[in-house]
Amino acid sequence: MDTVLVVAYSLTGTSRRLADSVCARQQWPLGLVTDARPRTGALGTLRCVVDSLMGRDPAIRYHGPDPGDFHTLLLVAPVWMSRLAAPMRSFLVQQAGSVHHVAVLLTMGSGGADHVFLEIERLIGRAPVLKAAFRASDVRAGAADAPALAIAESLRGTARRAVPATAAHLQQENPEWT
Ligand SMILES: Cc1cc2nc3c(=O)[nH]c(=O)nc-3n(C[C@H](O)[C@H](O)[C@H](O)COP(=O)(O)O)c2cc1C
Repeated sequence: MDTVLVVAYSLTGTSRRLADSVCARQQWPLGLVTDARPRTGALGTLRCVVDSLMGRDPAIRYHGPDPGDFHTLLLVAPVWMSRLAAPMRSFLVQQAGSVHHVAVLLTMGSGGADHVFLEIERLIGRAPVLKAAFRASDVRAGAADAPALAIAESLRGTARRAVPATAAHLQQENPEWT
C-alpha cells in the first residue's frame, strides 16, 4: 500500500492550486473529482447552492489512482454554504467503504469549515486525521503554501511509522490515526 493520495475538487481553481502545490512538493499523486454536468455561469453557481442546501450527491467523474490503494487520502476542496462542496461529498460517499484514513484541506471565503469537518466525520464514520482550512485570498496570494506544506509534511510516511514525529499534536487529536 502506498502512502498518500491527494484528491481535489475545484470549481474556480483555488483548491486545485493548493493541491498542486502540495503534490509538487511532496511528489504525491493527484486524483481529480470533476462534475459530470459542468457548473458554468450563474445557473451553475445556483446549482452549487441548491446541491449544498439539499445535501445532494451530484454525479461526478474521478480521474486518478485507485483511492483504496493508499493509506491516507488528503482531500482538498472548497466550502459551499458551510457544507463540503457537493462533488467531493459524492466522492466520499462512493469511497466511504474503501478509504483508510482521511485528511482534509479546505479553501473558503471566510468561514464554515468546522461544519464541513463534522460533515466529513459523519460521512466516513470517524474524524479526519488532520484538518485545516485556508482563505481563498491567502491561497491565491501564495500565503497558504507554507502552512499547507507543513501540514502535509506531517502526513509523510504514516503508512510506515506508528506515530509521525512531526505530528504529536495531531495524534493527540485523533489517537486512532495509525
Ligand atoms: C456556491 C458557493 C458557496 C460558497 N459558500 C461558502 C461558505 O459557506 N463559506 C465560505 O467561507 N466560502 C464560501 N464560498 C467560497 C469558496 O469556498 C471559496 O471561494 C473557495 O476557495 C473556492 O474554491 P475553488 O476555487 O477551488 O472552487 C462559496 C463559494 C461558492 C461558489
